[in-house]
Amino acid sequence: MNLHVPVRVGSYTTRGNLFLAPVAGYSDAAFRSVCADAGCDLAFTEMVSSEALTRGHLKTEVLLAREENEPDYAVQLFGARPETMARAAQIVAERWRPAIIDVNCGCPVPKIVKSGAGSALMRDPERIRAIVEAMSAAVRVPVTVKIRLGWDDSSINYLEAAAAAVEGGAAAVTLHARTREQGYAGTADRSAFYALAAAVPVPVFASGDLFSAAVAVEILSGGLPSRTRAGERGVAGVMFARGAMGDPFIFTRVRAALEGAPEPGITMAARMAAARRHLAISMRSYGERGACVEFRKQACAYLKGAPGGAELRRMAVSCSTAREYEVFFSAWEEASARFGASS
Ligand SMILES: Cc1cc2nc3c(=O)[nH]c(=O)nc-3n(C[C@H](O)[C@H](O)[C@H](O)COP(=O)(O)O)c2cc1C
Repeated sequence: MNLHVPVRVGSYTTRGNLFLAPVAGYSDAAFRSVCADAGCDLAFTEMVSSEALTRGHLKTEVLLAREENEPDYAVQLFGARPETMARAAQIVAERWRPAIIDVNCGCPVPKIVKSGAGSALMRDPERIRAIVEAMSAAVRVPVTVKIRLGWDDSSINYLEAAAAAVEGGAAAVTLHARTREQGYAGTADRSAFYALAAAVPVPVFASGDLFSAAVAVEILSGGLPSRTRAGERGVAGVMFARGAMGDPFIFTRVRAALEGAPEPGITMAARMAAARRHLAISMRSYGERGACVEFRKQACAYLKGAPGGAELRRMAVSCSTAREYEVFFSAWEEASARFGASS
């Protein structure tokens, strides 16, 4: 059975069910573009402030730009006020024409939570409903939400939060199967994906601990057979976050696994080419200095498992210019050749 299939999200149909998650500081045009090349079907931008957007305080040109190989994307907004979120959605829809506008109900950062946005919304499902309702009335673009399990272990309420969002008009729900208290630590509760998919009438996307093709296949095929009974909806899509950092080819591997094709061999040369392209697009977006400093963490991520990685990482974290990265890439090439690395 081919598990790599499109998903209907309101009036929009995705190309497939493999998504890049909204990840602040990572999911920009450069990384989304590299992931699109590797087989990502739809990427989410990092969260964008509805307050800043409506006051014209944001550098949206850079934040919401996209590359030619990315025909569609989903823009994620955060905020606590329904009117502001609706106005921000209008601005984004008119100017950037995204396929989807997503509402962040999961960010655990204290500054965001204090403003009533992000995961604070998990404590106020009625407000989630009001936000989604106001946004859905303001734009024709499908509005979706990304939620967590709940605030903490003693207040697991994702079913309630998702139901409120759907009542407000949400066209899909992504569940990051951790509580706010967990942050990004601890294991994601995979059983919650199946419970949510069975409970709401819209597609459910899974986020949390998506680090391998095998896990994605398991989630999309319904997990243990007993979990998805005949006629019950399963999980519609999977979202990669940390699993894609420095490894956009996770999309290539998952796609092959879902389509029942043999595991593709990803060469070190292909990884290097992706890293080079990632840096080149970043330089166009942010200028040489900004991009080069910002790219250090990405370069380290691309080096995961590379021969001579420790030495190369030391080089990467001091690169500040395009020229220095050329030296770094040459050293990486040399190390790969020396160690005869093919993957
Ligand atoms: C550095 C970082 C930044 C993130 N930024 C966002 C964000 O802007 N919006 C959002 O909804 N989730 C954000 N997330 C959460 C991810 O989208 C994802 O739900 C989470 O990392 C769980 O997936 P994983 O365990 O496979 O990494 C962020 C996660 C990390 C690690």
